[in-house]
Amino acid sequence: MGTKRQIKLGAILHGVGGNISGWRHPDAITDASVNFELYKKWTQKAEEGKFDFVFIADGLYITEKSIPHFLNRFEPISILSALAGISSKIGLVGTLSTSYSDPFTVSRQFGSLDMISGGRAGWNVVTSPLEGSALNFGKTEQQHPTHPERYKIADEYLQVATGLWDSWEDDAFVRNKETGVFFDPAKMHTLHHKGDYFSVKGPLNIARSSQGQPVIFQAGASESGKSFAAKWANAIFTGQETPEDAKRYYDDVKGRARALGRNPEEIVILPGIGPIIGSTPEEAERKYEEIANLVSIEKALDFLGRFYEHHDFSQYPLDEPFPELGDLGRNSFQSATDRMKAWAKEEGLTLRQVALRTATPKPTFIGTPESVADKLQAWFEAGAADGFIVGAAAPRGLEEFVDHVVPILQQRGLFREDYEADTLRGNLGLPVPANRYAKQAAGAATV
Ligand SMILES: Cc1cc2nc3c(=O)[nH]c(=O)nc-3n(C[C@H](O)[C@H](O)[C@H](O)COP(=O)(O)O)c2cc1C
Repeated sequence: MGTKRQIKLGAILHGVGGNISGWRHPDAITDASVNFELYKKWTQKAEEGKFDFVFIADGLYITEKSIPHFLNRFEPISILSALAGISSKIGLVGTLSTSYSDPFTVSRQFGSLDMISGGRAGWNVVTSPLEGSALNFGKTEQQHPTHPERYKIADEYLQVATGLWDSWEDDAFVRNKETGVFFDPAKMHTLHHKGDYFSVKGPLNIARSSQGQPVIFQAGASESGKSFAAKWANAIFTGQETPEDAKRYYDDVKGRARALGRNPEEIVILPGIGPIIGSTPEEAERKYEEIANLVSIEKALDFLGRFYEHHDFSQYPLDEPFPELGDLGRNSFQSATDRMKAWAKEEGLTLRQVALRTATPKPTFIGTPESVADKLQAWFEAGAADGFIVGAAAPRGLEEFVDHVVPILQQRGLFREDYEADTLRGNLGLPVPANRYAKQAAGAATV
């Protein structure tokens, strides 16, 4: 018998938080997004709670209307490398864009993080929804690749990255002082990639870590996003709000993976949750109201605009039906904007309602530790999730989750008491990918 399936947990570390006005909360630490001591404390807390990983999200374009956390925050590889030194078991996952970076450099960065951390690195592959990103990389907004093209680029990018990561077989470095042999040339492999978007010779100048390759995370929700995730991802973030929608997504992506010949059990699906915990249901509600009341309608409209290429929503009447926007938003946050338009139509919502719901969503996971644990268990057991990525409200949300929800999950046998492994793949229950060249050689030897 295999061991019992358990919930996987990641923690989003997001400084002053994902709420546009959360920094104004009386308990908020206003410089949290660039406060290294705090990031250290949170990582250690998540590790104390036996979380699988911490996650640093990222984007490449800001305006004066961006949420405070986006205005002034750490670059993921830099902060994760620093956090590697103060932790020993927890995974370190960060976002990097395939539309505005170079595969050789990025493979090297994640390969290095993986080695520095002893096999704990994960890469959240994003294609950069914001058109304005182009303006920071020598291009015009019109040159921002279209949604389908971004995924084509990402596909070739991952062919290159995973190829480069196999540049060295695991026993390639002999380092024999007597013979003067530093490495075995037969175990060094040159990629020679030439494709539609990239030309990369290789080899990469860093070897594989103990987990083989960094863990690939992805959050595709559109058709092309889901197909990409099914092909490449080891772990997937999703944004569904109901267990039914989450299960539909789960079955869809795992089905796509199976059709591609992958083992669906080797993909960990993690819905994003923003839990609010109180010692009573009323206290949890009060905490939500406190945060929601900080958000003005003007700020909510700014927040909404980011999803629609920074469209100015202040031009529309607030209490009339959500405006007709045609395809606006489909080339950036396609799945999110499609979902908002659908809510507006199906529920007859006004602009004010859509803006507030988007800027201060009422969490699905709100209540006492027991009721939050019950819901996590229900989603997990219904096959709607393999675990969760927890974006708890700053500054104490993560601490509350670790101190009050994790012990309940442990008591129920739903979450680990201690780490099973030293690597991120090991803890997520994912196999170490064989080096493709070693595998070829082994295959050849047996025929
Ligand atoms: C939990 C979670 C974390 C995400 N983190 C990032 C991020 O750091 N940077 C980013 O540009 N997009 C991020 N996204 C958005 C996705 O990359 C993706 O754009 C989105 O899910 C829409 O999918 P689509 O590209 O298939 O339309 C995240 C999504 C989720 C659900």
